[in-house]
Amino acid sequence: MKKIRKAVLPVAGLGTRVLPATKCLPKEMLPVFDRPAIQYVVDEARAAGIEHFIFVTGRNKTAIEDYFDSAYELEKTLEYKNKIGVLDQLRDLLPDPGACSFVRQQLPKGLGHAVWCARDVVGDEPFAVLLPDMIMRDDVPCLAQMVEAYERVGGNVISVEEVPQEDVSKYGIVDPDGEQHGLIKMKGMVEKPAREDAPSNYMISGRYILQPEIFDLLENQTPGAGGEIQLTDSMLSLMGNSSFFAMPFKGKTYDTGSKLGYLEAFVALALAHSEHGDESRDLLKKMMKDL
Ligand code: UTP
Repeated sequence: MKKIRKAVLPVAGLGTRVLPATKCLPKEMLPVFDRPAIQYVVDEARAAGIEHFIFVTGRNKTAIEDYFDSAYELEKTLEYKNKIGVLDQLRDLLPDPGACSFVRQQLPKGLGHAVWCARDVVGDEPFAVLLPDMIMRDDVPCLAQMVEAYERVGGNVISVEEVPQEDVSKYGIVDPDGEQHGLIKMKGMVEKPAREDAPSNYMISGRYILQPEIFDLLENQTPGAGGEIQLTDSMLSLMGNSSFFAMPFKGKTYDTGSKLGYLEAFVALALAHSEHGDESRDLLKKMMKDL
């Protein structure tokens, strides 16, 4: 079984749900307390043993490339001012030299198209996809749990979360075919089903381990929902030849691509901060009293 070494991070979307904040700042660079949202997702990938990060970028996204590079003048100034703690932190957060690739999706034609843009850099090996606007938190990070599951069952593994029945029509929902090895065996997926037609209440939540055969399917994929090339459509085609398992993720997920999800993420990560968590809690309590 081939190891999962590469991760695709599609960051070419327009982020229209959080405009005007994203007019000239990528939504993945919005700060969630003291670091950009994408840092949490890259950290999650690193903790799962990912060695190479493939960012699928678009117009107005150069800040992401700069962020994952060293900043010579800044580092020299921090050194000169003897701010060694923060300098070391910046250096620790950087992926290894050569560990990042940036490919361009010229037009945001959909998530499936964005993943397909990474085909040459991924090559012929299974790989991970992490949606960078979803910050997922647990003692063992989500992708690490999935890699462990993949090493048991092979094939394709996606993360899912239970949502209230009244919300199923907002999400991609899994059609389950029983349980195996503590995972849900999948026989299908439905995009935004009506409540009464939903085959389950497990929503597809933003982390995928996929076999490279998906690329040929994506190449010929016709546009689906919203006129976009949908990853789920090609996953459905792949399901005929390759096993798919859903791993229920029990941790907490924050959707920073929506305004309220962003607020929730910001507050939660401030509270979880090793240095500023307690102060943040005190501040929030005080603010709540004043409301
Ligand atoms: P979303 O649909 O959440 O992102 O896609 P979006 O299109 O930026 O958001 P809204 O709806 O306009 O607010 C999930 C992920 O897939 C990427 C996005 O950047 C996001 O991280 N994506 C989406 C692409 O890279 N290319 C696309 O064509 C579409």
